[in-house]
Amino acid sequence: MQKILVTGGAGYIGSHAVVELQQAGYQPVIVDNFSNSQESALVGIESILGTAVPIYRIDCADEAALRGVFQAEKDIAGVIHFAAFKAVGESVAKPLAYYQNNLGSLLALLAVMPEFGVDKLVFSSSCTVYGIPDALPVTEATPTKKATSPYGATKQMAEDILTDVAAAGGPRTILLRYFNPIGAHESAKIGELPLGVPNNLVPFITQTAAGIREKLTVYGTDYDTPDGSCIRDYIHVVDLAKAHVVAVRRLLDGPAADRVETFNVGTGRGNTVLEVVRTFEEVSGQKLNVLLGPRRPGDVPAIYADATKAAEVLGFKTETSLADSLASSWKWQLSLSE
Ligand code: NAD
Ligand code: WQD
Repeated sequence: MQKILVTGGAGYIGSHAVVELQQAGYQPVIVDNFSNSQESALVGIESILGTAVPIYRIDCADEAALRGVFQAEKDIAGVIHFAAFKAVGESVAKPLAYYQNNLGSLLALLAVMPEFGVDKLVFSSSCTVYGIPDALPVTEATPTKKATSPYGATKQMAEDILTDVAAAGGPRTILLRYFNPIGAHESAKIGELPLGVPNNLVPFITQTAAGIREKLTVYGTDYDTPDGSCIRDYIHVVDLAKAHVVAVRRLLDGPAADRVETFNVGTGRGNTVLEVVRTFEEVSGQKLNVLLGPRRPGDVPAIYADATKAAEVLGFKTETSLADSLASSWKWQLSLSE
């Protein structure tokens, strides 16, 4: 089995990718410092797979520690780099921590990988690189806009660094620009574990339905959209995880291609906040206490993916509806209070 190093593999998306990788016949090896995850994710992964996955509890930005992992594992075939801080608001308050962690972990990887002849990399990028797009849906050729947060800046800088390094003979790289991941594994053994008050819509919805939050505020109903609320492309996290498997397969066994390839990973479908709320109420049978509130500063009014390139080049298509994705989020929320 080919070994894939998964940095941030105990996190929300990483844990689902670890499961899909193993089930597709790869051997995932996790690197995580649990700065934004919990050991319980490893229990969930083991319970789904029926086997433990190797884990190194190190800071990915610690080059010497990372070197130790490559030395111990010997034959790593490729890397998926999830490890990063991801809270947009926090990044405005603590920019240095974001630059240090998100760029430091990437630079350490890029320094160590060639020492061990590892030259395949999948990177977690984000639709945040498109800023407020001029036209919808966004394709990979849609121009990127100046980042509005240090978090977004780290993703743009990382894309630029990877492009420059690949051009100079560095790893062949696939940049995956995720849209909005939601939901959880159907087993409800792994899922999102937001620390404190969630920033993202769906965890806020499920916590409101569970009585942890008093009400959900819809941030803005006066946008130029069919019902006035913002539009996003909500992708089920297991679909997103599977995109990593096909990306890894392309790097390891696919045809020769550009040294850096970029793919949107979304459903190609845009839904408003109010549609998400209504769909959640339908699938869960829970009535949400909803306040129609003012706009949240910095929000993108509407964005969704043109998913054609991933379909044509990677053969990747999402399989899960919004309703099923939200049902899995609710099942996960209920499992947390058991
Ligand atoms: P997450 O916080 O759940 O997972 C990230 C994991 O990386 C955590 O387990 C954390 O402990 C670990 N980590 C962070 N810094 C580390 C370091 N220096 N060394 C070792 N481990 C470290 O986040 P997620 O939602 O799973 O996101 C994964 C990646 O996808 C991130 O790069 C994120 O920026 C990107 N992304 C996420 C979203 C989203 O909405 N969730 C959207 C687009 C892109
Ligand atoms: C979705 C929609 C809110 C909470 C963020 C990052 C982005 C990317 C994905 C990593 C918006 C509305 C939310 C609430 C609401 N992450 N909302 N009430 O803003 O698309 O993007 O996560 O790369 O970089 O910025 O996601 O889940 O915060 O919001 O009405 O309590 O839900 O206004 O329209 P967003 P989100």
